[in-house]
Amino acid sequence: MDTVRVAVVGAGVIGLSTALCISKLVPQSSITVISDKFTPNTTSDVAAGMLIPHTYADASIHKQKQWFRETFEHLLEIANSSEAGDAGVHLVSGWQIFQNLPTEEVPFWADVVLGFRKMTGAELKKFPRHAFGQAFTTLKCECPAYLPWLEKRVKERGGLILTRRIRDLWELHQSFDIVVNCSGLGSRELAGDTQILPVRGQVLKVQAPWVKHFIREGSGMTYIYPGISSVTLGGTRQKGDWNLSPDPEISRDILSRCCALESSLHAAYDIREQVGLRPSRPGVRLQKELLVQDGRKLPVVHHYGHGSGGVSVHWGTALEATKLVSEYVCALRTPASKAKL
Ligand SMILES: Cc1cc2nc3c(=O)[nH]c(=O)nc-3n(C[C@H](O)[C@H](O)[C@H](O)COP(=O)(O)OP(=O)(O)OC[C@H]3O[C@@H](n4cnc5c(N)ncnc54)[C@H](O)[C@@H]3O)c2cc1C
Ligand SMILES: *[C@@H]1O[C@H](CO)[C@@H](O)[C@H](O)[C@H]1NC(C)=O
Ligand SMILES: *[C@@H]1O[C@H](CO)[C@@H](O)[C@H](O)[C@H]1NC(C)=O
Ligand SMILES: *[C@@H]1O[C@H](CO)[C@@H](O)[C@H](O)[C@H]1NC(C)=O
Repeated sequence: MDTVRVAVVGAGVIGLSTALCISKLVPQSSITVISDKFTPNTTSDVAAGMLIPHTYADASIHKQKQWFRETFEHLLEIANSSEAGDAGVHLVSGWQIFQNLPTEEVPFWADVVLGFRKMTGAELKKFPRHAFGQAFTTLKCECPAYLPWLEKRVKERGGLILTRRIRDLWELHQSFDIVVNCSGLGSRELAGDTQILPVRGQVLKVQAPWVKHFIREGSGMTYIYPGISSVTLGGTRQKGDWNLSPDPEISRDILSRCCALESSLHAAYDIREQVGLRPSRPGVRLQKELLVQDGRKLPVVHHYGHGSGGVSVHWGTALEATKLVSEYVCALRTPASKAKL
């Protein structure tokens, strides 16, 4: 076999980064990205794209820190290059504030972000209802720019991009040797993984170009994230809610919560509402599965379920998914072990 034909299902931040990572690290492969939705219509496009990790219940902290560090270092390199603007990646500094002392004053990711420290009394004066805070510099990776940038790079390396809805994985059996499942919340609908559930997030994208510093409530419920062309105000975490239409009542509540932290936002203008459904699961599913049906075999790598923090760890988990793909590729290219596959 000359080239191994790999199909990546999904074109959110997980699918496209995995496709690029495989095309770079598995030279014997040819890549096709297949998805029903593309940027700007994916969940990833709604994400603010702040690199602040979510903690997954079922993966070790060591592993999560490694995913975050690999992603941070990868994006820091892009932010430190002339590609930064096209890729939508930039450094941003700010504060995470707490009404009560958090259980962990120093989170596991403190030495990955830059300049992590406790906020001073003078800084906390802005927030009379908060007792504690952390100041740090992190990265923001804006998917409405980052996804087209990834897509372009996948195509430059010879990858194909197809618009199609997959109803059954076996549809891909004829044309592909390996399937990588990066379908996010789609993996539930495709009947199989009932562990994955939507956690609805509604945000506002507003114009407030004077706001340059991020502010985040430690709970992750309220946040102000300044970006390249707008400021993202959030948010909500509504488990099991599939409604993609913005709720005006919630928008008013978000604006008032954010104004309570940053009064200057009373003057924000050009307010647009957005809703995304986070593909939530106790942990990211990163796993090989050899599907067998009527004597046919289809090697699959599952890579989905990044919940609230997919942008923060995407490159690290893409590297791990790529390792699983190359294990299959090795087996396929060794006749003896191919028989075993
Ligand atoms: C309001 C909000 C704010 C967020 N903020 C942040 C943040 O600041 N930082 C952070 O790290 N994370 C954030 N997130 C989380 C982040 O958005 C997700 O973790 C991430 O986008 C998941 O990426 P994904 O590629 O798995 O999913 P998606 O972007 O949903 O992509 C899934 C892809 O699979 C395709 N697909 C699905 N089913 C099928 C099928 N049957 N056939 C063909 N194609 C299919 C879809 O069309 C889509 O292209 C936020 C999320 C929300 C909603
Ligand atoms: C995104 O969705 C809109 C509205 O449904 C549609 O008109 C547009 O073609 C979609 N864009 C892409 C790139 O799929
Ligand atoms: C940033 O870019 C400069 C100039 O190219 C380089 O010398 C430096 O090592 C880079 N730093 C990081 C952290 O990548
Ligand atoms: C993704 O994985 C889920 C869960 O195993 C499965 O039901 C679904 O068919 C897969 N979908 C795709 C498109 O790979």
